[in-house]
Amino acid sequence: MSRSAHPAGPRHADVLPEGHYSAPAADLNALDPKVWAETVGRDADGAVRVGGVDVKSLAEQHGTPAYVIDEADFRARARAWRSAFGTEADVFYAGKAFLSRAVVRWLHEEGLNLDVCSGGELATALSAGMPADRIAFHGNNKSPREIQRAIEAGVGRIVLDSFQEIVRVAHIAQSLGKRQRVQIRITVGVEAHTHEFIATAHEDQKFGIPLAGGQAAEAVRRALQLDGLELIGIHSHIGSQIFDMSGFEVAAHRVVSLLKEIRDEHGVELPEIDLGGGLGIAYTSADDPREPHEIAKALTDIVTRECEVARLRTPRISVEPGRAIVGPTAFTLYEVGTIKPLDGLRTYVSVDGGMSDNIRTALYDAEYSVALVSRTSDAEPMLVRVVGKHCESGDIVVKDAFLPADLAPGDLIAVPATGAYCRSMASNYNHVLRPPVVAVRDGEAKVIVRRETEEDLLRLDVG
Ligand code: LLP
Repeated sequence: MSRSAHPAGPRHADVLPEGHYSAPAADLNALDPKVWAETVGRDADGAVRVGGVDVKSLAEQHGTPAYVIDEADFRARARAWRSAFGTEADVFYAGKAFLSRAVVRWLHEEGLNLDVCSGGELATALSAGMPADRIAFHGNNKSPREIQRAIEAGVGRIVLDSFQEIVRVAHIAQSLGKRQRVQIRITVGVEAHTHEFIATAHEDQKFGIPLAGGQAAEAVRRALQLDGLELIGIHSHIGSQIFDMSGFEVAAHRVVSLLKEIRDEHGVELPEIDLGGGLGIAYTSADDPREPHEIAKALTDIVTRECEVARLRTPRISVEPGRAIVGPTAFTLYEVGTIKPLDGLRTYVSVDGGMSDNIRTALYDAEYSVALVSRTSDAEPMLVRVVGKHCESGDIVVKDAFLPADLAPGDLIAVPATGAYCRSMASNYNHVLRPPVVAVRDGEAKVIVRRETEEDLLRLDVG
């Protein structure tokens, strides 16, 4: 997605190369509030401060790279989602975006529920005191052990993803003498506008049971017959990083049609529908995400209208935002290392992390912004590619962006909007140690996930 033609003020090149860049911002020192966490600003000396703590002291105390999360912003976004949907709907934060025990406590305190999709996420949630009945358990291939653990813990719902799982969960619940509340995840044939690898509700994919060909209706038929299951609703998740509500509109229409079919065939009105997550955030100034209250209104209106037409009681709605809550609340702080200008091309700026702390650029061609944060600069903009320290040329963090031309090794730069799917998808590629997550609030910085150490690496290597 190339945004515009050649910008003004080129450096190291008379003609700028093709790329994903728009013209440099008029003021490279400005921090667009769209992409930066709420409490981010610059101190009098030009250094960036977040949660009342400046990045230079964060780097000194906690090292780089580090994910820095603005706790007040996280809580405010969680609250905004909660209050946008009110008491008539449930907000399940999607833990896959980023989960830690501190985050679980924040969510609990702000009145959100939690969606987990593995035994590890479930263990994290339970160990931090999230009440089990506020947890939804997802996944296309939950193991029998995971299912048993979830049922024993008393999770509020298990989202069934296949015909085999309907039987498996019913069987395990029954053997434990329980009746498990479940939803059935269906694919409604909508492909939201997003990257191919993260779109989900089209039919040729591993998640859910297709509505097409009556398969979802058959799944409902089977689930209703099994004593171990209490079918409470239908689930649909249509994709990721979505800005356009029309995909949800079609999905809601199709889910409600299924509810109507179920009512007509079985005389049962299922009490809940879950419309999943997938709401987009701003990674660059070009993105314009919607506010939670607009999204809540749009989704509630769609479902209410569709139910009126179908003469159904409006079910309780739930949603599962992950990225939209945590994404904008964090940035990754890096120290600049080698700077390599390539004449006629661009300048490669190497940082002390890379694809191991942010795989999204390599995997999805994701776009990010970047800023010099340890000081301001009046130097001309230079076209840069921010790259990591991994042995791979695809190790790119920010493909095309502008930084001041006087950038030097030792400067701190930060990539905003890395709260979602960066730490949670981090790896140890090249035995690079995963960065810590440092939460800042009211002038205090607290490590909520510590930096990995060489001892951590070697502890697993038992040979
Ligand atoms: N609910 C379900 C059932 C999901 O599968 C997902 C995401 C969510 C909720 C939360 O979606 P969100 O609101 O965070 O977009 N690794 C990719 C994203 C994969 C999302 C998978 N499922 C990325 O980095 O963009």
